Amino acid sequence: MKNTPVDYQTARRIIDGYGLPDFGKATIREVVAISTQLEQETNTEFIHMEMGVPGLKAAQVGVDAEVKALQNGIASIYPNINGTPEVKAEASRFIKAFINIDIAPECCVPVTGSMQGTFASFLTSGQCTEGKDTILFIDPGFPVQKQQIVVMGYKYESFDVYEYRGEKLRAILEEHLSKGNIAAMIYSNPNNPAWFCLTDDELKIIGEMANKYDTIVIEDLAYFAMDFRKELGKPFEAPYQASVAHYTDNYILQISGSKAFSYAGQRIGVTAISNKLYHRAYSGLTKRYGGGTFGTVYIHRVLYALSSGTSHSAQIALAAMFKAASDGQFDFITEVKEYGRRAEKLKKIFTDYGFTIVYDHDLDEPIADGFYFTIAYPGMTGGQLMEELIYYGVSAISLSTTGSNQEGLRACTSFIKPHQYDLLEERLKLFKENHTL
Ligand SMILES: Cc1ncc(COP(=O)(O)O)c(C=O)c1O
Repeated sequence: MKNTPVDYQTARRIIDGYGLPDFGKATIREVVAISTQLEQETNTEFIHMEMGVPGLKAAQVGVDAEVKALQNGIASIYPNINGTPEVKAEASRFIKAFINIDIAPECCVPVTGSMQGTFASFLTSGQCTEGKDTILFIDPGFPVQKQQIVVMGYKYESFDVYEYRGEKLRAILEEHLSKGNIAAMIYSNPNNPAWFCLTDDELKIIGEMANKYDTIVIEDLAYFAMDFRKELGKPFEAPYQASVAHYTDNYILQISGSKAFSYAGQRIGVTAISNKLYHRAYSGLTKRYGGGTFGTVYIHRVLYALSSGTSHSAQIALAAMFKAASDGQFDFITEVKEYGRRAEKLKKIFTDYGFTIVYDHDLDEPIADGFYFTIAYPGMTGGQLMEELIYYGVSAISLSTTGSNQEGLRACTSFIKPHQYDLLEERLKLFKENHTL
């Protein structure tokens, strides 16, 4: 038996105790539970890289606005489901400032995080047109969004974009969309889990295909402006966050407060529906609801049924953060660049000890350093590597749970503490000694 930082027998007992048929398919929550239990029982510190939780302090400008609103008594009244006029106006301005796109305040709708935003978007998109009942995932992706599809009893299709970067994307989209059943397609940019960024040319292809097949694009900007290779943080100045919105009117943007502003706990984000889509009537919606447009059904039927709006105080916080960012007074990008610095150091340690980065390029450009990165070890499947690293006190999730066809793991930089770089190096050194290449 090899010498490992976490006792092998204890680790096996605890993993087996979860009764998982395939440890490589464990969900993020299961990996957290297993690694936390092991940490407690063996008294060994774990380097947690499984959960994508913001590891920074919530933006103060939001906290101050929210506290003040609560003290002024906002909690007692129901929020207007359309959103407060302030958050709608500031969302529209923020989108102009950082994406250079015009979306009217009316079409910017607060949601209880992008999680609710995507749920409501999938649901509404799938009800628009008879026969268009399937969501296409441009994978790898955020696993819980597929769970949302399962919860609502919808269908989905997916492909791993690893093999289809650049012009190749057109052919694979054509293959899926030409069947006529795709209501909407979704991807995140920067990508969770792999942190690649689709290029403008690729977004143009997606936009053109959305126009050709009248399909809605759901662009998940959970990691807004976090392509740290570019200076995206100057309001109303190029370069801007890349977006499909430049190439089609058939789009919905999901802008989350969780990562950009480290505001995950308050569950706040904005769904921004293109002006044209917001005002478009669909036969399927008219039949089901007796009238309405995409935007009004989204708000007054779907969001009303889900949560009757979004808490007032969180909307006020988000409006304040958007405003401060657009005014150039709150440099949110510089704050979150910390994730990029961590990724650079962590990637170096992993690659020094024989690991490779799986999704390593955006066509001919190396990917950015950011919130996540992907790793593989020669000769090991993602599942094997995930389990093996547990014995070294390192936890991450397998790419197989994200719709990726590649063997490897997603590692998240958000929980890394300053002293853990040395610890990781020590453990990976031992890992390499025990796993000769
Ligand atoms: C790609 C992606 N979309 C959406 C979310 C959820 O965002 P929110 O906290 O706004 O619901 C996450 C969070 O990890 C994510 O990675």
